[in-house]
Amino acid sequence: MKVTIIGAGNVGASCASLLSQKNIVEEVVLLDVRKKFSEGKSLDISQMLSIIESNTHVLGITNDYSKTKNSEIIIITCGIPRTPGMSRDDLMNTNAKIIHSVTKQSLFFSPKAKFIIVSNPLDVMAYVSYITSKIDSSRIIGMAGILDSVRYRYFLSKELNCSPHDIQSMLLGGHGDTMVPLYRYTSISGIPISEFLSKDKNQVIIEKTKKGGEEIVNLLGTSAWMAPSASIVQMVEALLKNSKKILLCSVFLKGEYDLKNVYLGVPVILGKSGVEKIIELKLNKEEKNLLTNSANHIKNMMKKLKLNDINSII
Ligand code: LAC
Repeated sequence: MKVTIIGAGNVGASCASLLSQKNIVEEVVLLDVRKKFSEGKSLDISQMLSIIESNTHVLGITNDYSKTKNSEIIIITCGIPRTPGMSRDDLMNTNAKIIHSVTKQSLFFSPKAKFIIVSNPLDVMAYVSYITSKIDSSRIIGMAGILDSVRYRYFLSKELNCSPHDIQSMLLGGHGDTMVPLYRYTSISGIPISEFLSKDKNQVIIEKTKKGGEEIVNLLGTSAWMAPSASIVQMVEALLKNSKKILLCSVFLKGEYDLKNVYLGVPVILGKSGVEKIIELKLNKEEKNLLTNSANHIKNMMKKLKLNDINSII
């Protein structure tokens, strides 16, 4: 079983490292456009693996897609990352061209693969990959909700002095300022969050979560990679093990939540064929308005996509 990661930057290399440490795939292919870069990263990872006794073979490749042939999963992490002062949306047309080209080349060699999209702005990039590939949308899945919800749970655990492992949360919407963490669906070991924290105080945590990615960009000068790569690996495990886990992912909506033709974060069941079910929660009016607002934000960005530019490249 083979998993390919496109982009050996911070997220891609860290994902290759975490995934290969799990010892659940035969081969991880790490591909980058920069000469020798993936080769160096994969050599370092491979040498680490001999200490932790994983048998995963890690192969670093400079831009030769033939080596990705017959991958089960393709993870797209490439593109430009944010720097301080930039929003995820500022990356859109540059990254759209890259995602378009990378999707096309990967699909050619792995026509049955499932795709996990990580590049930003996430929901729009997942859409670009989907329209490029023309494959069933159940096979093109964006990674965002797991990361956003883990940040929300982390901040909550700090506020409440409890373990983040005990917190269950549900977070819908786009990967950005319009994300919609649901107070009504948050609990600590099954005890509703309202027993611990008022809605107003929770809103402060939500605002902190919305800025969670930006906080790290401001501290490090570039985007986060540890928590993003752990979130990707959780999706890979669910797909490979056919675990039917409910995970928060950005998926193409076709009328669910009264929304369509847009990639948006919702709870889904992941299994060996990709997204096996989109779970529709019964939202109240306030929650529904927030989700619709988030979808409109993504759709407005999609309108600014320069699709002609993209198509003329390939
Ligand atoms: C973040 C990037 C990965 O939220 O979007 O840190």
